[in-house]
Amino acid sequence: MGSQWGQDKTYLRAKNEGFRSRAAYKLMEIQTKFGIIRRDDNIVDLGAAPGSWLQIERTLTDARIIGIDLNPIAELDGIETIEGDINDPAVVEMVKEKLEVVNIVLCDASPKLSGHKSYDQARIIDLNEQALRFACKVLKPGGNFAVKSFQGSDFPEFYAKCKLNFYAVKTCMTKSTRKGSTELYIVAKNFIGPAVP
Ligand SMILES: C[S@@+](CC[C@H](N)C(=O)[O-])C[C@H]1O[C@@H](n2cnc3c(N)ncnc32)[C@H](O)[C@@H]1O
Repeated sequence: MGSQWGQDKTYLRAKNEGFRSRAAYKLMEIQTKFGIIRRDDNIVDLGAAPGSWLQIERTLTDARIIGIDLNPIAELDGIETIEGDINDPAVVEMVKEKLEVVNIVLCDASPKLSGHKSYDQARIIDLNEQALRFACKVLKPGGNFAVKSFQGSDFPEFYAKCKLNFYAVKTCMTKSTRKGSTELYIVAKNFIGPAVP
């Protein structure tokens, strides 16, 4: 963890407070600003490893939480996990079998970056599209969705797609994002449903 993120203040704070990554503070900030999660909400978390968002989610809802990742997620009390690809229809089916109602879909997934800006931007937007499709397949009308994205030439089109599917859509740059990063979150509330492709 240290080598990947650098031992900056946020990393050290996360370590001291028992969170699995510094990303914990991003979800806290999103929740404080937008109040997307309520106490009885079932949550599906896409790209959830190592699991700091799951730790925060556990404090925000008393209902069920499913974390999905390509990598295994080390056990967390009261959290169900699926090791798989969010683009795999079988994973969507597994979620539907486990949860009758999904109120919230969160996605902090990122692909492995190559360092080539335009190639990486395209892969990130592709992952964003996969997350949106996933959300539209499982969310109940009125549900909420938040997804990590990055500013770039493909961003406006993806943002517009979110606006077609949710009544209220905003962007949010969190304070714990590293300086100079183009990372931002789309927070989309009140799923219209059914999905617009
Ligand atoms: C920044 S980490 C998520 C951190 C997490 N929110 C936390 O708080 O611990 C991004 C994760 O996205 C996952 N990921 C990327 N593409 C994925 C895919 N297609 N399906 C599932 N997980 C994916 C990666 O394996 C990685 O664990």
